[in-house]
Amino acid sequence: MKAVVWNGVRDVRTETVPDPRAEEPDDAVIRVTSSGLCGSDLHLYEVLGPFMNPGDILGHEPMGVVEEVGSAVTSLNPGDRVVVPFQVSCGHCLMCETGLQTQCDNTKNDEQNTGAGLYGYSSLYGSIPGAQAEYMRVLRAEQNAIRVPRDGPDERYVYLSDVLPTAWQAVRYADIPEGGSVAVLGLGPIGQMACRVAEHLGAGQVFGVDPVPDRRVRAATQGVEVFDPSQGTDDLLQEIRERTDGRGPDAVIDAVGMEASGHGAVRLAQRAVSLMPKETAAKLVETAGIDRLAALRTAIDLVRRGGTISLSGVYGGMVDPLPMLTLFDKQIQLRMGQANVHQWAPQILPLLDEEDVLGVEDFASDHVALQGASEAYRRFQAKKDGIFKTVFKP
Ligand SMILES: NC(=O)c1ccc[n+]([C@@H]2O[C@H](COP(=O)([O-])OP(=O)(O)OC[C@H]3O[C@@H](n4cnc5c(N)ncnc54)[C@H](O)[C@@H]3O)[C@@H](O)[C@H]2O)c1
Ligand SMILES: [Zn+2]
Ligand SMILES: [Zn+2]
Repeated sequence: MKAVVWNGVRDVRTETVPDPRAEEPDDAVIRVTSSGLCGSDLHLYEVLGPFMNPGDILGHEPMGVVEEVGSAVTSLNPGDRVVVPFQVSCGHCLMCETGLQTQCDNTKNDEQNTGAGLYGYSSLYGSIPGAQAEYMRVLRAEQNAIRVPRDGPDERYVYLSDVLPTAWQAVRYADIPEGGSVAVLGLGPIGQMACRVAEHLGAGQVFGVDPVPDRRVRAATQGVEVFDPSQGTDDLLQEIRERTDGRGPDAVIDAVGMEASGHGAVRLAQRAVSLMPKETAAKLVETAGIDRLAALRTAIDLVRRGGTISLSGVYGGMVDPLPMLTLFDKQIQLRMGQANVHQWAPQILPLLDEEDVLGVEDFASDHVALQGASEAYRRFQAKKDGIFKTVFKP
């Protein structure tokens, strides 16, 4: 089959690889019909490169049709249409039962001391072959695959794999009071969807911040008040405070993560680390500060006293100096983590009917064949020409 594989830093190719099989009794194999390209893939493209191996299949946002099931799978059948969450969870351990599927006791990676296995997400998360491929092996298929109706376009459901539950969790964790205010940093797919979810769940004021003009325009058409962080943090803080009685918003969602703009020196360091020999680089990422904290720092300064910061942007380094004094003094609540898909999917599914409340059907900016992956990654990283969300059509 054809699959999108990682070959090196900023080197992604479409190659022919062996077809996956149902190897374990609880496996299934799906024929992938749609598969998202995510801001998380961009971290692997460069900064987290030291944890990738040439030949790793990328991708973690798939949906498709069941082709084959293992002998222990009884509730799924060939022909079923399913969405596969980006994480693998067991569904019955204490963590899963508390809605923390990304911390699953039975799929966590003890060797790396990380949470649940993630598709296409490096040796940090189990090196599980990913979803930007014609076919994909689904682990613990019964507990994980979400069956969706056979009709309606893929776009209606594909974001259940990651974007929707991530945005939903970001908003739930932000704990915005009814009619309250939230600032969303980063207006990529996750930030845009978080704005929509916040509006849907009753936020009174939604502010959006992103340096990319067309991403601001996109959010503004949804009623978000938008700001450009490149104008300088002080001006940004002042403008948003003026709109919130001088206090700052009740909550701030960081949908940017470790590759924030506005931090030239760390950007250079990240580039340098991603090009070092693998072992040295991996050690450095694990033990040193490789994150660009511009967005997180803005969140800490911006949120009102006693407010909540909800991080969905991915961070990876260990010893970044954080303004603990400010965090403590402002009595800030900080919540974060990979999204727990099964925790939120039941709340989201009813919104994916004809009314398309969250506007998922025209959310993608590009539909691309797997053969176009190399170019698609390059353009998505550059954030130019209106590229916003690419969905591969294998
Ligand atoms: N927690 C989860 O489960 C989960 C799931 C999916 C994605 N993510 C993470 O969420 C983040 C966003 O993902 P995405 O797909 O929307 O990616 P993206 O890269 O398209 O979005 C990031 C956006 O942040 C903007 N940005 C950069 N610097 C900024 C700054 N200083 N201030 C404000 N905005 C800034 C960029 O212009 C971009 O639009 C990534 O870190 C991704 O890894 C987390
Ligand atoms: Zn994703
Ligand atoms: Zn579990």
